[in-house]
Amino acid sequence: MEEKIVVTGGKPLQGKIKVSNAKNAVLPILIASLLGDGESKILDVPHLTDVDTTCSVLQHLGQEVARQNGHIMIRTVEPTSFEAPYQYVRRMRASFLLLGPLLARYGRAKIPLPGGCAIGSRPINLHLKGLEALGAKVNLEHGHVEANCRRLKGAQIYLDFPSVGATENLMMAASLAKGQTIIENAAEEPEIVDLANYLNAMGARVKGAGTPIIKIEGVKELLGTTHTPIPDRIEAGSYMVAAAATKSDLTIENVIAEHLKPVISKLKEMGVQVDEHESSLRIRPGEEELKAVDIKTLPYPGFPTDMQAQMMALNCICKGTGVVTETVFENRFMHVDELKRMGAKIKVESRSAIIEGVKNLSGAPVKATDLRAGAALIIAALSTEASTEIGALEHIDRGYDNIVGKLQEVGASIERIG
Ligand code: EPU
Repeated sequence: MEEKIVVTGGKPLQGKIKVSNAKNAVLPILIASLLGDGESKILDVPHLTDVDTTCSVLQHLGQEVARQNGHIMIRTVEPTSFEAPYQYVRRMRASFLLLGPLLARYGRAKIPLPGGCAIGSRPINLHLKGLEALGAKVNLEHGHVEANCRRLKGAQIYLDFPSVGATENLMMAASLAKGQTIIENAAEEPEIVDLANYLNAMGARVKGAGTPIIKIEGVKELLGTTHTPIPDRIEAGSYMVAAAATKSDLTIENVIAEHLKPVISKLKEMGVQVDEHESSLRIRPGEEELKAVDIKTLPYPGFPTDMQAQMMALNCICKGTGVVTETVFENRFMHVDELKRMGAKIKVESRSAIIEGVKNLSGAPVKATDLRAGAALIIAALSTEASTEIGALEHIDRGYDNIVGKLQEVGASIERIG
């Protein structure tokens, strides 16, 4: 029988929930460890299938990977293979980030084209354009990207769009290139800053991460180091929205509030009370019924696309009409049909979803169409007394560490069956 999450909601959550460290920081950092000589230790890594996939792909390349008490140790050796198998890249697009480090350190790499995925076509043209500017010879053949180079050479690169992955791939590659690289219109996400901090701790010279212009002075070699990744702002945001949807008084720990500004601001606009503390946030219900809000996703520091589905679920039970516009991915509305199965009133017009709030959603069998859609459905299910069954859990397992256990601990009636 297919595994399912069964939720019977309609009651407030209570207490404290601790956020894990960020998936989207950990994955590039694990891959960046390839750049360094010796051992890297990445501390407090979340238990996620995407992390397992990354470890498997590193092992496939011949690297020594060990896991202990939630930490991951990687000892780099001369790779036994320079090719990432399709089985991994297909499962996890972040495997494409291997291209930059392998090229920069060993001058060769072969990675299958990741292809489209549920949320959009997700091309890799910006990664390739940047690596070519650094001197790589790139061939696209038989569904693979094959790239070679002598030592990469610093260059000035303008990204047409501030792609997170392209910025990361280029920052890693440029760290071992000869001379200076300037990435303009770079992504500014906190995960980019975390990767830059990790690279700098390895001996790289990266400046300006977190701004649209990143300058990298290439160095000859990098050394393994120890690093604790930043907290997961999207996991935190998901629990904040779950608290709002259940009118709960919930404290969320291991949070950097600065990273959550657009989410905090939208929740306050809806009428949720958010108290910011040193490394935690307390969410409390406001006096009035929650109001629907308009949301437009944008690259950081704009509203994150990775929180769009969860906020849409909340808008479904707010008073009034809210318009959610997705500008980052072209097809990230697959949760709409699932939310509609639960009684939501949503109309999609091009890149916008118009949501007319209803008093209550009803339970229904639904499926997680992607990772964040899965979180949105759990939130919708927690808001209603009816029982909801959520399938396709492999998506949720990619990015939420023990979501069922964490929600049980704050009093949710949620279980995994099958
Ligand atoms: N794009 C291009 N060309 C490129 C690269 C990207 O046109 O060469 C386009 C994409 O098609 C997309 C947009 O640029 O429309 C943004 O893509 P980006 O490269 O910024 O995204 P990513 O690096 O593939 C990361 C996260 C995603 C998150 C996005 C946007 C990781 C492992 N993944 O993806 O996380 O949605 O940035 O913030 O860091 C998730 O965690 O659920 C997730 C999908």
